Amino acid sequence: ATTLGASAAQTGRYFGTAISAGKLGDSTYTTIANREFDMVTAENEMKLDATEPNQNQFNYTAGDRVANWATSNGKRLRGHTLAWHSQQPGWMQNTSGTALRNAMLNHVTQVATHYRGKIYAWDVVNEAFADGSSGARRDSNLQRTGNDWIEVAFRAARAADPGAKLCYNDYNIDNADHAKTKAVVAMVRDFKSRGVPIDCVGLQGHFNSGNPVPSNFRTTLSTFAGLGVDVQITELDIQGSGTDQANKYRQVTNDCLAISRCNGITVWGVRDTDSWRPGDTPLLFDGNGNKKPAYTATLEALNGG
Ligand code: G3I
Repeated sequence: ATTLGASAAQTGRYFGTAISAGKLGDSTYTTIANREFDMVTAENEMKLDATEPNQNQFNYTAGDRVANWATSNGKRLRGHTLAWHSQQPGWMQNTSGTALRNAMLNHVTQVATHYRGKIYAWDVVNEAFADGSSGARRDSNLQRTGNDWIEVAFRAARAADPGAKLCYNDYNIDNADHAKTKAVVAMVRDFKSRGVPIDCVGLQGHFNSGNPVPSNFRTTLSTFAGLGVDVQITELDIQGSGTDQANKYRQVTNDCLAISRCNGITVWGVRDTDSWRPGDTPLLFDGNGNKKPAYTATLEALNGG
């Protein structure tokens, strides 16, 4: 097939992109996004600060713009994200203890209910583990409400939208040997053994020279899949350019294709100029919307070449 989405669909997978509501008036952007991708993640518009700017006053204006663009163009939606230490509204940053626990659960319930029936998968909890060698949870106001905050968030999300897959999403969980990866594996294994509703793990896939695509990436995907969850690459971008970057995109794509439960890849933006890393060129289209070697390599891989 000749587009990323159609090529991924040949093996029952999806190929998505992050979308910014503020760019939906840019026809170069929407033309590429509509042609190439069949899954959409709102880059910022469904986060906590966007959807609940004041406590119990929910604002879905920007999130709905992204959701409506996706559904009116026949694309599925990944929800991002219901519970996260970052991009919290000011009131939440200043809340703690039982009040924060209840506010977090209310947020999960309200937002998941608003989008009920429209979301393929929710990143229920984002980035809850620490970097480095500790394998510990990340310290945050949410973590300080008690270690069970993640599982209660998942149970609330399941109750609010039983049809959505529920994912744990994080970065730097790509290398099977790293403590952070092993800690997330242990959490998922524990959740599955105790019946906590988790359906998928999202590996963000923000790769650069300091955090390269590991040679054991396929092993990591396989390890998660072996726990009985789907795995998805949820925010892929790879620093670099030219053939070297193309080969890295090819590797990531082939690693996903090798694992039957790796059922989708999402890149974190359309053109290099849309990236959250403005100095880099980590995406599949250049600033003029031209296909890069990384695009061609990814397309070839999806088509079995
Ligand atoms: O919209 C405001 C604008 O009004 C204001 O003038 C401007 C001044 O700073 O800020 C704008 O908001 C920015 C927003 O992006 C939209 O551009 C925020 O400051 C900025 O912090 C925000 O960055 C986002 C970042 O998450 C925040 O954590 C990036 O766009 C987004 O790509 C990035 O995405 C994250 C995932 O959610 C989780 N995984 C890592 C990934 C990359 O950091």
